[in-house]
Amino acid sequence: MSIETIKIFDTTLRDGEQSPGASMNTEEKIQIAIQLEKLGVDIIEAGFAAASPGDFDAISKIAQRIENSTVCSLARAIDSDIKSAGEAIAKAKMKRIHTFIATSTIHMEYKLKMTPDEVIKRAVRAVSYAREFVDDVEFSCEDAGRSDIGFMKEISDAVIEAGASTINLPDTVGFRLPFEIGEMVKIMSDYTKDRAIISVHNHNDLGLGVANSLEAVVNGARQIECTINGLGERAGNAALEEIVMSLKTRKDVFSNYTTNINTKEIYPASRLIATVTGIEPQPNKAIVGKNAFSHESGIHQDGMLKNRETYEIMSPESIGLMKEDTLVLGKHSGRAAFKDKLAKLGFNLELDALNKSFERFKIMADKKKDIYDNDLRALVTNEMTKATQIYELVSLQLMDFSDGTPSSVVKIRKDGKEILEAGIGEGTIDSIFKTIDRISGFDGKLLDYKVNSVSEGKDALASVTVKVAFDKKDPAIIGHGLHIDTMLASARAYIGALNSYLSMEGMLKKRNCDSRETV
Ligand code: KIV
Ligand code: ZN
Repeated sequence: MSIETIKIFDTTLRDGEQSPGASMNTEEKIQIAIQLEKLGVDIIEAGFAAASPGDFDAISKIAQRIENSTVCSLARAIDSDIKSAGEAIAKAKMKRIHTFIATSTIHMEYKLKMTPDEVIKRAVRAVSYAREFVDDVEFSCEDAGRSDIGFMKEISDAVIEAGASTINLPDTVGFRLPFEIGEMVKIMSDYTKDRAIISVHNHNDLGLGVANSLEAVVNGARQIECTINGLGERAGNAALEEIVMSLKTRKDVFSNYTTNINTKEIYPASRLIATVTGIEPQPNKAIVGKNAFSHESGIHQDGMLKNRETYEIMSPESIGLMKEDTLVLGKHSGRAAFKDKLAKLGFNLELDALNKSFERFKIMADKKKDIYDNDLRALVTNEMTKATQIYELVSLQLMDFSDGTPSSVVKIRKDGKEILEAGIGEGTIDSIFKTIDRISGFDGKLLDYKVNSVSEGKDALASVTVKVAFDKKDPAIIGHGLHIDTMLASARAYIGALNSYLSMEGMLKKRNCDSRETV
């Protein structure tokens, strides 16, 4: 029997970004796309081009950068969306437009207020128009999980005829059980045969996204849509790492299937996405959770020492989770050794990024005795995903007044000029952020604040993530800061969010739709 390759379609940058609080700046999206390409995903859904000029810009930059994965943009079944998608991905080596319209009765009747015939017409128009931009068009029957199978056959016939080569059947609301998804996929793949690839896109509202995707594979699906860390709308999408590692670990069951994924890039991808979004996978999350490979009980540890397979069904190394190394580089280490170490960690930096990271490494090595791989990963990721530095922190001084009121003095550089301000607050963080507000003229609303230590030790790097709304009308912005001193890391995170906001501000204001809106 021949081995079939299951295409992995990653939608972390589109459906994943629809997770509350997971918005990313352009630099972050580019770095994620590069990591997804390294991971070996077949298709990267880079965003929804018509949503805003910012989304359009990120997709087109990704399209110019990625060579080994197909770059895809989502588009509703309307001409202006399809035009934006086509233009955003125009420069990609391999490109796809993914267009969709709802096919369930409830969506057609209440959301779209369209008859089934009108929906088919709209879908055909969308696919034909998309074919004017690309050869590779995917069509999704939104809410397929609750759609009539006869109607899905009819609309599939029509869109295949119009030029779609992939028919995606999303369980948009995460309602279906594995055997039901299996039945739906079997009927549809037997029906479309080699006229189109059947794809699934399972949401996780009942915690069944991965199980449903695996059941789809054995019933004929040849593409799975998923996200790293299971990010996505509401309870998220099926997690890429769980699907891929299930297919690999249970080769006895899935002997006829393979993927193009290099599983050793799973852990780096998971860490990058957690760092950028500030959304850490739960500790007991399968494959990438902090505890996924730790064995606490004495009985388990004893068994593991005798034979790892007693309690381990896959190795941490297989997902790229290596034993932590301390870095033997010190403050006297040269650029070549630093570059070499980064390459071993999977970072191949261009000269400018290498120089900036090296500078930061030197400053860190001056202050911190043991530098771990995770410190380096965090430092480089932080450097590479920074938005343009409109405001730059020069110094921060903290003190308390005699009555205990925290106050801070912040010096910031903007357009080559240094601005000094002082302010007070209810707490130290409050005083720092309010002082930065006085300098910028914004009144940022802090929606979330998180601090994690990057590695161990009292001198561990603090990684601070903030979520700030600078304007009621715009989405909240995430900022990251890294420093041995938590207060400095906090100030950097807040300024980072401000810089991201300012570099996207004009684009955010023009945001005109999102994929959850009706056609
Ligand atoms: O869940 C869904 O239906 C989607 C579509 C746009 C594919 O995300
Ligand atoms: Zn979805």
